[in-house]
Amino acid sequence: MNGMPKHIAIIMDGNGRWARSRLLPRYVGHREGVKAVRRVVESCSDKGVQALTLFAFSSENWRRPSEEVSLIMDLFVQTLKKEVASLNRNGVRVRFIGDRSAFSEKLRHLITEAERETRDNSRLQLVIAANYGGQWDISQAVRTIATRVQ
Ligand code: FPP
Repeated sequence: MNGMPKHIAIIMDGNGRWARSRLLPRYVGHREGVKAVRRVVESCSDKGVQALTLFAFSSENWRRPSEEVSLIMDLFVQTLKKEVASLNRNGVRVRFIGDRSAFSEKLRHLITEAERETRDNSRLQLVIAANYGGQWDISQAVRTIATRVQ
């Protein structure tokens, strides 16, 4: 035990306020949020934190203007394309939780690939909650158990 928490969860918030206070468009704030995530992942990995959960996109976020939603989706796509190889090299296992059926086929494919490529890593578990909801999670779990029982 090194005095570090085993698991840290972060609600990604404040991107818009960060941008507004600098008179920048919200999108720049989201991009900066991704940079902050990179720094947090590196620190967690260095300091021996075992799991990091990021609440990156909630089911309520679909209600935002469609341009903003599509920019956030693009950021997910770009970030996965850019970062997975380096996460993999650094022993990070990536997993997504949440209802991914609402995402584009391209994003779903990148998510599946990221999970597959990094599945044997154990230095840091990076869990990205995207379109995640507590009720959704419970109903999914119950459905899985019911299928297994059958
Ligand atoms: C909340 O800030 C943030 C979001 C709704 C989206 C954050 C998601 C990303 C930047 C993509 C991350 C990608 C990966 C792979 C982790 P806000 O707009 O609610 O800010 P505010 O509270 O200041 O309005």
